[in-house]
Amino acid sequence: MKYGHFDDANREYVITRPDTPLPWINYLGCQSYFGIISATGGGYSYYRDARLRRLTRGRYNNVPFDFGGRYIYLRDDKSGEYWSPSWMPTRGKLDDYSCRHGMGYSVISSKHDGISASTRYFVPLDETLEIWQLTLTNERSTPVELSAFSSVEFCLWEALDDFTNFQRNFSTGQVEVDDEVIYHKTEYRERRNHFAWFACSEKLAGFDTQREAFLGPWRGWDEPAAVERGASSGSIAHGWSPIGSHHVRVALKPGESRQIIFVLGYHENPADAKFDPPNSQTINKKTVKPLIAKYRDKVQVDAAFERLRAHWDTLLGVYQTHTPDIHTDRMVNVWNAYQCMATFNMSRSASTFESGIGRGLGFRDSNQDLLGFVHMVPERARERILDLAATQLPTGGAYHQYQPLTKKGNNDIGGNFNDDPHWLIVGVGAYLKETGDWSILDEPVPFDNAPGSEQPLYEHLRRSFRYALERLGPHGLPLIGRADWNDCLNLNCFSNTPGESFQTTTSKDGKVAESVFIAGLFVLAAKELAAIAERRGAKDDAKTCLAEAERMDATVRKHGWDGEWFVRAYDDFGRKIGSKECEEGKIFIEPQGFCVLAGIGLEDGMAKKALESVKTHLATPHGIVLQQPAYSRYYIEYGEISTYPPGYKENAGIFCHNNPWVVIAETMVGNGDAAHDYYSRINPSAREAISDVHRCEPYVYAQMIAGRDAPTHGEAKNSWLTGTAAWNYYAITQWILGIRPEYEGLRIAPVLPAQWPGFSAMRKFRGVTYRIAVSRKGPGNKVSLKVDGKPIDGAVVAPPKDGKNEVAVEAVLS
Ligand code: GLC
Ligand code: GLC
Repeated sequence: MKYGHFDDANREYVITRPDTPLPWINYLGCQSYFGIISATGGGYSYYRDARLRRLTRGRYNNVPFDFGGRYIYLRDDKSGEYWSPSWMPTRGKLDDYSCRHGMGYSVISSKHDGISASTRYFVPLDETLEIWQLTLTNERSTPVELSAFSSVEFCLWEALDDFTNFQRNFSTGQVEVDDEVIYHKTEYRERRNHFAWFACSEKLAGFDTQREAFLGPWRGWDEPAAVERGASSGSIAHGWSPIGSHHVRVALKPGESRQIIFVLGYHENPADAKFDPPNSQTINKKTVKPLIAKYRDKVQVDAAFERLRAHWDTLLGVYQTHTPDIHTDRMVNVWNAYQCMATFNMSRSASTFESGIGRGLGFRDSNQDLLGFVHMVPERARERILDLAATQLPTGGAYHQYQPLTKKGNNDIGGNFNDDPHWLIVGVGAYLKETGDWSILDEPVPFDNAPGSEQPLYEHLRRSFRYALERLGPHGLPLIGRADWNDCLNLNCFSNTPGESFQTTTSKDGKVAESVFIAGLFVLAAKELAAIAERRGAKDDAKTCLAEAERMDATVRKHGWDGEWFVRAYDDFGRKIGSKECEEGKIFIEPQGFCVLAGIGLEDGMAKKALESVKTHLATPHGIVLQQPAYSRYYIEYGEISTYPPGYKENAGIFCHNNPWVVIAETMVGNGDAAHDYYSRINPSAREAISDVHRCEPYVYAQMIAGRDAPTHGEAKNSWLTGTAAWNYYAITQWILGIRPEYEGLRIAPVLPAQWPGFSAMRKFRGVTYRIAVSRKGPGNKVSLKVDGKPIDGAVVAPPKDGKNEVAVEAVLS
């Protein structure tokens, strides 16, 4: 069953009923001002950091689920009847409803008793504000007098404190109302130089800024007293909960339309020009007034929207394809790329499943996310890499997370996740291959953000590499530390205290438990660093890296092979995890995918065998589960993984992030059918028809789909902010379609399903547009290339030497 449909031409998903199984959201903003918005107007906004600088409140995990948002109320002033044009929060009957989630905007439209209302929400480029552009049309045959009320509930900036520290917060709230603009200025009188403002394009009939004055005693957002009586009270908030609500009266003749623009903004003043007059307590508004005036103007607003559209055309215009599969096209051309930008901007901070107060930017997460966005925003990828590297510790290890507002490593979460440092090499490799910008390696970058500790980025990579070598276990495999990619495989934690964090508790000194996954990652990263060193003229480094990669490869084959698949790890007692010797958790997906990705076992058949085992033991119609059999009880020596009920999350859920590793591995052994089949099983668009089972948005990946051991097998959770986005994008674009940036040029090496006659693609790469046509002449994956009509040797197309900026590539598969 479906709740909407794709509008491919407009790059929109159109939700046609508001009661989706879960909130189906979109993101507003792509630079520093962000918001999440659901199809019923729910969600909140923030400046740069969802925890530290939150503008508006949303209520997580509420009943109903999605509550608190950018709510507009309409009232028929003759009958007194009122409703929410976005359905929530009044949930009255709508004669027509749609929400179009597009690239950086959402349009929620509905009709009620002959009044149609359509609101376009977006954040203009280069601004720290959001626009709600409401168009009202009277489709009745008689004139109508309407009231429109806007509403936001301000957050007192620090979202966690806002949610918990009531003894203080009920007394600090402050606002100003000036020239019909509502200013939220809690704590502005002291250490904050920023405030929020909320303006309207129209002359106001009234306003409210005190929540309870607007709602009335003992009432909720579904029946605000001000809306019911058709009049705001002009309240000024003192403490309690400041809100912003405008009241506008609109008279419409039959057929007449009117537009009302509401603008919510964030503004910072210079510390020495906060007040006007200088020694008063009144906000200096001179700096913000021109901006307010600008966006009260419809012409300016429309122009800003067009710029936003053009921006997305440019980003998505880097890679476009046309294949025999609509779900592939849709994800590659629009939604998967779009989701990669969301993971770039939000990391794992704010979504329906991430409260925005729990996490900063993950070191491993953001490095992997790079794989999905580097081609769209290479300059920002560069900045991200340097920020990440600056949180690396002198040991080569890394803080597991950092806060985007401060860019400092997060001490509360700490480090010692022993996979972390290697992802930096993977991220930098992806950046170099995309851009050819070797200068980044010479960029001086501090360790732990300590001034004076700067070393070239290249030195950071060397330390990442050495980190594993200095931490080898009894079998010569890398020690796991707190955990590796699988955050929940906590082999040194031994936690028996309720509520203790698996992420930060370590009970054992960790000299025994080893990770075969990190071994695979190490081999991959060491080969990458060798390639980088080689091209940098650091021959000795290159040699060392290759020698260590080879040595680790041999160690994996000796101690990490179980006969039919790769072992997952060794626990603190030196016993295997992910082996036929185990009672539960006999086979794990991660080492099968990652060891093959690293090239281990490609020559001697181990890789093929491991993938065969994945198919036999882990593949389900809804995707590949993380391990089998699921853990049926808590194993103190394994940690969080065994805390989840069977079939969920890391305990044998379909943890989508690692499915593309197997997809890539299948292409590496030449199996295009299996690769695309696995790719399709978790492709959200391909799952749209079972939206009642899948339940999450059909236009973006979710972190998890419940595995076969779960009662809700096939149900997705934790949509949007997951490494799944980048890895699937990477798998389909670079490995199945096979258009892959390499150091010397663009490799064209598709590994397609046997039934595909071919496909075409357009790829911009280092300033050159490649128009690629692939056709199948035989059943295999052998490629012959012609560039501008001339056959070339090999499969790598070097950037044209003659300054041409367009190249035609014909690829024939046989
Ligand atoms: C979450 C984390 C990621 C981790 C994964 C597996 O997605 O953000 O860092 O690798 O879970 O545990
Ligand atoms: C929980 C999640 C896991 C995530 C970790 C870190 O353990 O299950 O997926 O990586 O938290 O936030």
